[in-house]
Amino acid sequence: MNDTLDITITKAENSRLTVTDFSQLPFGKVFSDHMFIAEYDNGQWSNLRVLPYGPIPMSPAISALHYGQAIFEGMKAYRQADGKISVFRPEKNFERFNKSADRMSMPAVPKEIFMQGIAALIDIDEKWVPAQDGYSLYIRPVMFATDPYLGVKPSDKYIFALLTTPTGPYYSKALKVKIEMEYTRADDGGVGYAKTAGNYARSLYPFAEAQKEGFDQLIWTDAAAHEYIEEAGTANLIFVINGKLVTPSVRSTVLDGVTRDTIIQLAKKAGIEVEERRVSVKEVIEGIENGTLTDAFAAGTAATVTPIGEIGYLGKTYTLTDPATRTVSAGIAKTLNDIRYGLVPDEFGWNWVL
Ligand code: COI
Repeated sequence: MNDTLDITITKAENSRLTVTDFSQLPFGKVFSDHMFIAEYDNGQWSNLRVLPYGPIPMSPAISALHYGQAIFEGMKAYRQADGKISVFRPEKNFERFNKSADRMSMPAVPKEIFMQGIAALIDIDEKWVPAQDGYSLYIRPVMFATDPYLGVKPSDKYIFALLTTPTGPYYSKALKVKIEMEYTRADDGGVGYAKTAGNYARSLYPFAEAQKEGFDQLIWTDAAAHEYIEEAGTANLIFVINGKLVTPSVRSTVLDGVTRDTIIQLAKKAGIEVEERRVSVKEVIEGIENGTLTDAFAAGTAATVTPIGEIGYLGKTYTLTDPATRTVSAGIAKTLNDIRYGLVPDEFGWNWVL
């Protein structure tokens, strides 16, 4: 890493650790004592600081609020078996963050700010990294435009912040998902591959409609013909068909998931054939009907590896194999966890041990 940056540290007067119930950690609701902030103005990043987590004063005219120049990331820090803390593949998130920044006409965040910001924040909030199995400290980098200006143009000023939240998995049970045949998440030439706020905002209404029908999540299909499966919005999608791991290829409408990439590498190492390609809705439905589709799961940093139990398609619900009998996803999920928690050697060099 480059030279050590000058990061000002202001400690919280009172830690909230003692009043936080670590047995109740719904995703994204409990924040650690501190946050990291850097400011961009005049082509320069400056004012790097760790400070108590809390509100940031800002104008209601900032362009992030009006025109959606806002991007984010998600990664996790794990308490390893020997007590050390490791962050899983942060460089992948760093690269994707700046890819999103580029697409949204935002400045790149220098790698040393991203990495040293994480290190400084976790150093001060070290005790916030949970030790329970399946738990971690979720790290949320976010950048948003702060010009108080109502003209439509890229902002000149930005805030880059890092927030952390101790958490268990985003989903707590096998999912009932609906293949969405009306609304769309992303289209060719759009911003689907970027982790930008608007992608999530546009998913809320279709998601609420699906929830009314009893679904936990959507499976998005291509905007042109609703013929191909893309991703779940909160996670990528992976199937096992005829014994092969099959996943929609990454394209302009599909996020290049870090967990997805990790699982592909683990599967290949385990000798499982992997196909990254367009996956049709027809193929998935037929695979369920004729028994060749034996496993299906959502894969993401927040979602981890979450089995899909049921799929709704055009008013009919298809029940998949019993998640308790699925050896492929369970095996991969176990290996992944063992690496993250330092229970087996990290052969791929994925853990950034702090
Ligand atoms: C993550 O997995 O880190 C995500 O960003 C998904 C989030 C929208 C829940």
